[in-house]
Amino acid sequence: MNIILLGPPGCGKGTQAKRLQDKFGLVQLSTGDMLRAAVKSGSEIGKKAKAIMDSGALVPDDVIIAMIDDRIGQQDCRNGAILDGFPRTVAQAEALDRMFAGKGLKLDRVIELVVDEAALVARITGRFSCKTCGAGYHDTFQRPKKDGVCDVCGGTEFIRRDDDKEETVKARLEAYRRQTAPILPYYKGKGLLSQVDGMAPIDEVTRQIEALVERR
Ligand code: AP5
Repeated sequence: MNIILLGPPGCGKGTQAKRLQDKFGLVQLSTGDMLRAAVKSGSEIGKKAKAIMDSGALVPDDVIIAMIDDRIGQQDCRNGAILDGFPRTVAQAEALDRMFAGKGLKLDRVIELVVDEAALVARITGRFSCKTCGAGYHDTFQRPKKDGVCDVCGGTEFIRRDDDKEETVKARLEAYRRQTAPILPYYKGKGLLSQVDGMAPIDEVTRQIEALVERR
């Protein structure tokens, strides 16, 4: 089973992908996480991507497509993947179709998390994650059960993303409107698009997504 989670920055794609991964035994493929790992490792891709990501723009299609093409063919994706943050342009969506066709894979569902843009800046600027295991939290909406201690691994160090500053978030939202929103009609035309209310509480969004996945 292969699923795309689609929606603007901060709509909850990463939060929900982690939950689906655990429940359905799928692999979360987050192009944002892959790029951040490349930046951290100091690789050539990471060096090129860093300035682009910090500006809120999209990394070139050819870089991203090659990254996903390589990853999705790996053994652990055999049972299926949740694509989180990919595709983000029509060219990426078309490349994904070719990739799946070439590997004998099938795209089962595209789930759009529909949100009120006004809420997104607060969601993103309040986000932080565990430095050790990457578990995600929010200053208001998703605090660790015990302040300063990660619920998942007990880690006590937390980090915030460089591109989660308010000015950059606005540029990321603009990139979404201009370059990513046009892929919604692309998938609607293929009969693959479903929507969930991304403004509902996190557990309720999970319930709506699971219902769609189970109905497949
Ligand atoms: P990426 O890492 O993909 O960032 P994004 O799409 O901007 O998405 P986010 O990770 O910011 O948000 P999310 O939807 O995952 O929300 P989350 O679950 O964390 O991309 C970063 C950059 O990399 C891009 O700008 C670009 O430069 C580059 N890039 C990546 N992919 C690319 C591609 N394919 N092509 C080109 N360039 C690419 O939730 C946010 C916060 O809200 C959390 O704190 C969470 O706790 C909280 N929250 C979640 N759900 C709810 C809820 N229902 N109610 C209340 N709070 C909630």
